[in-house]
Amino acid sequence: MTTTAAAAGTRRYTGTFPADPAQVRQARAALAALLRDWPLADDAILVASELAANSVRHSSSRDGGEFTLRAEVHPGHLRIEVEDAGGPWHAGPRDDGRPHGFDVVEAIAGSRNWGVDGDARGRVAWARLAGETRVSILPPAADAARVSCSLADHPRWSAYWDKKHGLWRVAEDDPDSDLYAESRDADTVIGYITAHA
Ligand SMILES: Nc1ncnc2c1ncn2[C@@H]1O[C@H](COP(=O)(O)OP(=O)(O)O)[C@@H](O)[C@H]1O
Ligand SMILES: [Mg+2]
Repeated sequence: MTTTAAAAGTRRYTGTFPADPAQVRQARAALAALLRDWPLADDAILVASELAANSVRHSSSRDGGEFTLRAEVHPGHLRIEVEDAGGPWHAGPRDDGRPHGFDVVEAIAGSRNWGVDGDARGRVAWARLAGETRVSILPPAADAARVSCSLADHPRWSAYWDKKHGLWRVAEDDPDSDLYAESRDADTVIGYITAHA
């Protein structure tokens, strides 16, 4: 089991577990440790649990194999993956009238934010969960001509208060990007960053 603190604010976790039902709990615990301060940790743990349970129960891994849980915390979203050894896929119409694991995943992540890639030789079930965006712009100091701000979850953006014009100016720190906004109102530029990041 390894946890790596990666560059640029991305936290990653990779853990490989025996494909035994009791190990799903271990996978949940590992993710809970990674996501201690992540706003929607409970949802993420539930999604990971359903995906891991599927690998243990339905995939070829269940015959003495393993499953691997990966999680990546990005600014504003979290990606979760569970990889297994593949095997036959018995998907069919469900008419038992009760929600199953993928229904839970879809309800949490949204219909376009989850999927299963791969084939009988190995599959990765994944989900992308939107996080709360932590962008905060402090009110400018009264006498500051230029105030740089910390955009907690958006390290690639800069913001400053242009005192002469009474405006916040925000821009993406990338020479190839022309994303830029200005407003007297901090919430407006925060909204812009959130929509474009
Ligand atoms: N990792 C997997 N490997 C093979 N088949 C899978 C896997 N995950 C899901 N499936 C198939 O998709 C179906 C739907 O999964 P899910 O919605 O979690 O329902 P449940 O696990 O309750 O059957 C499973 O019954 C199984 O046939
Ligand atoms: Mg299931």
